[in-house]
Amino acid sequence: MIQLKSKNEIEKMREAGDLLARCHQEIKKRIKPGVSTWDIEVFVDAFLKEHGATAEQKGYNGYKYATCASINDEICHGFPRKTPLKDGDIVTIDMVVNLDGGLADSAWTYAVGQVSDKVKDLLDVTEKSLYLGIEQAVVGNRIGDIGSAIQTFVEGKGYGVVRDFVGHGIGPTIHEDPQVPHYGRPGRGLRLREGMVITIEPMVNIGDWRSTLDSNGWTARTMDGSLSAQYEHTLLITDDKPLILTKLK
Ligand code: MF3
Ligand code: CO
Repeated sequence: MIQLKSKNEIEKMREAGDLLARCHQEIKKRIKPGVSTWDIEVFVDAFLKEHGATAEQKGYNGYKYATCASINDEICHGFPRKTPLKDGDIVTIDMVVNLDGGLADSAWTYAVGQVSDKVKDLLDVTEKSLYLGIEQAVVGNRIGDIGSAIQTFVEGKGYGVVRDFVGHGIGPTIHEDPQVPHYGRPGRGLRLREGMVITIEPMVNIGDWRSTLDSNGWTARTMDGSLSAQYEHTLLITDDKPLILTKLK
């Protein structure tokens, strides 16, 4: 069932989203060669606590950490770990913040030190694809319009868009209906309505879109070993343009 959100719920999610955007700003300052994703995990945990929020991912389906930290060919659900990041790596930090019952979910891929032009292009295309998807998230459009815009753009650049993981409705729990694939056909799927809150979170691989699952049962990585990036926002469908909840107020 799809939950349309009340004004009060939306206000709480907006506050959670603002805090999450601030947290990403702090992460950006901290990501550099020599720092580990465990350092980032510890920072995020403390930052959320300090601001009266909790990490919704911790304990979710047995997941143990506040953040997902996916390095290079890892697509998503990488575990934070103590290995230092190296110059030229990319790392996706994904997290769900709970502030007074309002949830917000956002992921960003960060470049560690200097990355190649090829990698910069991957990050650029992935971020642009997110905003192309968001543009389609308007009343009257369908879920397939979002996926189609993303897929057409990403594949036009010669990259692969991951199909095994999708965006989703969010609130009161992390994963609610509807599913929001980052591929698809225009005019297909559920019609978007005012008051729906969804995530759009394209994962883009330099190579093939296919993924494999690590033996830890969580971490997905590219089948061909190519690099993978991801940008994610939580947004509200309104009677006008979509409202991005996971940006600074
Ligand atoms: N933030 C992830 C998403 O975008 C959810 C991860 S759930 C976890 O869907 F348990 F793996 F953390
Ligand atoms: Co997320």
